[in-house]
Parts: sequence; C-alpha cells; structure tokens
Amino acid sequence: MTGATGFVGRAVIQALRAEGYAVRCLVRRGSERDLRGLEAIERVEGNVLARETLERGMAGCDTVIHLVGIIREQAATLSTFERIHVQGTINVLDAAAGTGVRRYLHMSALGSRSNARSRYHQTKWAAEEAVRSNPVPWTIFRPSIIYGRGDEFVSLLAGMIQRYPVVPVIGGGLQRLQPVPREHVAAGFARAVALDTTVKQTYDVVGPDAVTLLRLLDLVGEALGRARVRKVHVPIGLVRPLARLLHRLPGFPLTPDQLLMLEEDNVGDPRPFYTTFGQSPMPLATGLRAMLG
Ligand SMILES: NC(=O)c1ccc[n+]([C@@H]2O[C@H](COP(=O)([O-])OP(=O)(O)OC[C@H]3O[C@@H](n4cnc5c(N)ncnc54)[C@H](OP(=O)(O)O)[C@@H]3O)[C@@H](O)[C@H]2O)c1
Repeated sequence: MTGATGFVGRAVIQALRAEGYAVRCLVRRGSERDLRGLEAIERVEGNVLARETLERGMAGCDTVIHLVGIIREQAATLSTFERIHVQGTINVLDAAAGTGVRRYLHMSALGSRSNARSRYHQTKWAAEEAVRSNPVPWTIFRPSIIYGRGDEFVSLLAGMIQRYPVVPVIGGGLQRLQPVPREHVAAGFARAVALDTTVKQTYDVVGPDAVTLLRLLDLVGEALGRARVRKVHVPIGLVRPLARLLHRLPGFPLTPDQLLMLEEDNVGDPRPFYTTFGQSPMPLATGLRAMLG
C-alpha cells in the first residue's frame, strides 16, 4: 500500500486489518511516525518516484493499493502533479506488473477528466488512463471530498466557524459537493481486494447528500452547535490574484488550482459504490455530528 501515512491511508490500513489482511506499507523516510499506533503492519522504506524501492517493496504482495496523491505541489522536493500523480502511478503499475501482483486498486478523484480545468484533475485523469492500459486487473475509486477527523477541508470550515464571527465564502458558494466519510472509502478499498466483480470498474465515491458550500457550512455549524453561520461573500476575482501570489506561503489555505476545483460541482451517483461494497450511506448531518460533535 502506498500513501499509508496519509489521512485516508491510515483508515484503509484499519479496514484491511478488519478484513483480516496482512498489510505492508511503503513509507517515505521520516514519515514512519505517522503510523504510530497502527500495529501489525509491515513497513518498507520507499518513494513512488524511486522505482527500485517499489519492486523491492511489492515482492510477495497479492494486491497493490495506490493512494499517493498531492493537493499542493512542493518545489523543494520536486513534487509536481505530473511527477507524483502520473509518473508515480506509472512507476507503481510497472512494479506491480513486474512482480506478478494479482490485483491493483487505484485512488483517483471525482472530477478527473481529459479536459479538466485544474492540473490536479488533469493529472489524476492521466494516471487513470495509465491504470486502464495496464495488464494487472484494476479498480478505480473517484471520491468527492472525504471527511473525518484530521481532514483538510471540513476541519478548515469548522475551524473558521469556531474562530471567526463571519466566515468568508469564495464566490456565490452555490457549487455542489458530495462529501463521503473516510471510513466508507476505506471499507470500499478493503472489500475490493476479494471482489472480482469490481475488476475494470470505476466507482464514484460520494455520500448521499449533494450540498452547496453554503449548505455545508450550515451543516458544519449545526454539528458544532451553532444556531447560525454568518457568511460574507468574497468575489472570486479578488481571491484569484491573492492565491496566485501567496499560495506558496506556509499556512495560506488555497492554491490557484484548488480555486479552479472549488468553482465547479463535484457530485455523482452514490448507489453503485454503496451497493457493490455492501455499505449503507450515512446522511451528511449524521456524519458531521459524529466527526465534530
Ligand atoms: N482527502 C480528500 O478529500 C480526497 C478526495 C479525493 C481524492 N483524494 C485522494 O486520496 C489520496 C489520499 O489523500 P489523503 O487526503 O490521504 O492525502 P494525504 O493525507 O496528504 O496523504 C498523502 C499520502 O501520500 C504520500 N506521499 C506523497 N508523496 C509521496 C511520494 N513521493 N512517495 C510515497 N508516498 C508519498 C504521503 O506520505 P508522507 O506521509 O511521507 O507525506 C501520504 O502518505 C490522494 O491520492 C488524494 O488525491 C483525497
């Protein structure tokens, strides 16, 4: 498994362990501490950009789960979307084919398409294309926003609601999202390992409620016990140059690429995923209360 130390990865480890699998994680040097408390897993040092570490890490594995992805590029480590999403995936696929892996599960993102506006989505699409043309039986997962304790997006909204009297909303806030709980995403990956009907299938991974950003803020507010969330609309034309200028500063919350994604709907049909993987969708308000209440 790659990306094990991340927000989603740690939940996937637990879901795999719950299904009784032995888990081996490819971990970058210096990231081992992120797996504290997750017992009975094997760690191998590696990096998706270092091909030799991948074959070594996969030797003897039945299934490869490739979760690695970035939302921000990092000049210091040469971590660009192209290198991490596309080249990283090609490296993992080559190693999987080379070591005789039986099954390959891939993490993409909802909104990935050939003519996507954001480079995040463009490169996630290019990675999907590489997956589809590889010989190892694959399954692709395309989640909308994934939420849970320690996430980036819902936690950011919750933090703003708790800290500020008025929450800034970029643009009209009418773009729709369909957040899905992290544990449901993780269970999907774990169950796909043994479900041969999921081979060569691509699943949108979305919760049951498609909500606008404005409604999401209200639901997060309700989960935090707020009677009302006051909002102020900030024109996107004002934020865009700021994001372009400041996104490399540590702590600046938004990149120009994320802004492009925030401008479009990110919704899908939850039924194929939930039916296939035998789970019940959780109303967003319930999930948010469990996360934040
Ligand atoms: N979170 C969401 O709402 C969401 C929605 C849709 C799709 N996704 C996709 O889900 C996946 C996981 O997301 P996440 O939220 O869990 O992200 P995350 O918390 O940032 O985790 C990213 C993981 O990738 C690893 N990684 C980054 N560069 C690497 C490299 N060169 N070699 C090896 N490992 C590397 C990180 O390892 P280190 O610990 O060493 O940094 C970490 O384990 C990503 O592909 C993301 O695009 C996420």
